[in-house]
Amino acid sequence: MSFKLPFIKAKSKKTAHLNELENIPRHVAIIMDGNGRWAQKRGLPRIAGHKEGMDVVRKVAKAASDMNVKILTLYAFSTENWKRPSKEVEFIMRLPKEFIHVYLPEMIENNVRIETIGNMNDIPEHTKKAVAYAKEQTKNNDGLLLNFALNYGSRFEIMEAMKRVMSDVKASKLSIDALDEQEFSKYLYTEGLSDPDLLIRTSGEQRLSNFLLWQSAYTEFWFTEVLWPDFNEDLLIKAFKEYQRRKRRYGGI
Ligand code: FPP
Repeated sequence: MSFKLPFIKAKSKKTAHLNELENIPRHVAIIMDGNGRWAQKRGLPRIAGHKEGMDVVRKVAKAASDMNVKILTLYAFSTENWKRPSKEVEFIMRLPKEFIHVYLPEMIENNVRIETIGNMNDIPEHTKKAVAYAKEQTKNNDGLLLNFALNYGSRFEIMEAMKRVMSDVKASKLSIDALDEQEFSKYLYTEGLSDPDLLIRTSGEQRLSNFLLWQSAYTEFWFTEVLWPDFNEDLLIKAFKEYQRRKRRYGGI
């Protein structure tokens, strides 16, 4: 284990007062976009953006935890990201291991529980091992749930859920009449998690890109032009303040 970096333990002045506020989003989901452009703008290889992005994950997790966010779901690798050059894919797949290697002690110190959603079958063995270790080490923590979407795609998730539903119906473990939205949700990777209240996407793109399609039916969206490696606590607070101004009607009046 490397302990090169100091733990971030104390709450920052900016977030210290915010957890007192009501209406902090319970579940925040983030599409961390713009790493490649951030690097290219600096004449660096794209992977430099991903590396920088990993450190932002640490800072944002800390800020979210300080503000009493309960779940932070981060889109780290989509089912479509396999189309990228193999060197880039390999690099991104090494990041969870590196993140865990460097920051796991800090996550434990801050009572963070690490989990993942996505299809772990196709993930490289070394990534799986590191993630399994982090999950095991943090499984009893009851602070922030830091939930990495790894090899995640909503359509795949829904399709797999549907197959399991059909198989349970066939095996008479589930009756078609008993299948409702709540029951169906139990077949998704996000079983047991509340839906995201706020979804943030960086880098100016304004689309969901196959992320949490079912779960974000009533989620508030917040977009920023800022590229993920430049994202920070101030922007998270800005997003929360905007969220607090929204009126969530869930289809009612
Ligand atoms: C999107 O930016 C980013 C990704 C596909 C990778 C995201 C990964 C991280 C931020 C690091 C994750 C850290 C851990 C601990 C797993 P892009 O490459 O599509 O950027 P571009 O649109 O500018 O090309």
